Amino acid sequence: MMVEKVNTITVYSTRGGSGKTLTALMLGIAATERGLKTLIIDVDLEAPSFTHLLKPDTSFKSWVDYIEEEVESVLELPQPTFLENLDVIYSPAPRVGKAFLGWKSSEWWQKALRLTLIAEKELQDNGYDLIIFDNQSGTSLNSINNLVVADASLMVMRPSSYGLGAAEDIVKNIYFSLHGMKERNDYYIWNQVHDPANDEERIILDNFMTRWDNNLKQYGLSNVGSVRFHSQFNLELLSDKPDFLGVYQRISNVYKEILATIIGLK
Ligand SMILES: Nc1ncnc2c1ncn2[C@@H]1O[C@H](COP(=O)(O)OP(=O)(O)OP(=O)(O)O)[C@@H](O)[C@H]1O
Ligand SMILES: [Mg+2]
Repeated sequence: MMVEKVNTITVYSTRGGSGKTLTALMLGIAATERGLKTLIIDVDLEAPSFTHLLKPDTSFKSWVDYIEEEVESVLELPQPTFLENLDVIYSPAPRVGKAFLGWKSSEWWQKALRLTLIAEKELQDNGYDLIIFDNQSGTSLNSINNLVVADASLMVMRPSSYGLGAAEDIVKNIYFSLHGMKERNDYYIWNQVHDPANDEERIILDNFMTRWDNNLKQYGLSNVGSVRFHSQFNLELLSDKPDFLGVYQRISNVYKEILATIIGLK
């Protein structure tokens, strides 16, 4: 069953490095263009990225401070970004996050899930139209919690058997459980899709993606787009002050479409 209004999206992948963080950021920018006040929450405690991408120049309270109940309210966390209607909640350095992940019990993660649901509501009541969780990859209790809270999820996949073969069972089990839990919409995109050099390469790529499109459909995931390999992303990441808005403006159409489908306003 479909959710009617999507207020929370979790960007996810089974393997690292597929492009979750940049996808979350591009969708965040696309959302502000639609006039939505948007918040990205970096909940990747293993490989938090937003402190590197956006280089906050003031100290901040992190998502971990919130789920450790060390701040009064989640409203203390959002930090401004280069866009007026886009805020971010950071996660702390990976060293802290990893240590943190290691010793928490499953009861503790149940409490974290409750706190995440409370945060979602409080942030929405205080003016955020859309919350995007940049999730941790894999199947930790942290990743699952952040999938559970969302109205919609977006799995980011590279067309490579390296990442996908091992992921199939995980995907099947996770989404089967999630669909039994509540109404939600689950999607995926292909990302970093390279341009085939000739027809032979095109056929190999198309066959690969079609096979996976069919697999994923069975597990209740719909394809909402395909993003090409854009070297601009990698180039910007070499700079001290990456111009993500500039990259977005050159390739915005694909992200506008993806967002429109996910939030149901196409
Ligand atoms: N469409 C794309 N075209 C080219 N490069 C891309 C694209 N999307 C992501 N990348 C590159 O892939 C790398 C990983 O991207 P990103 O950090 O967004 O992935 P991630 O899934 O969040 O990784 P992690 O699992 O470490 O959190 C970066 O170097 C980024 O520049
Ligand atoms: Mg990331």
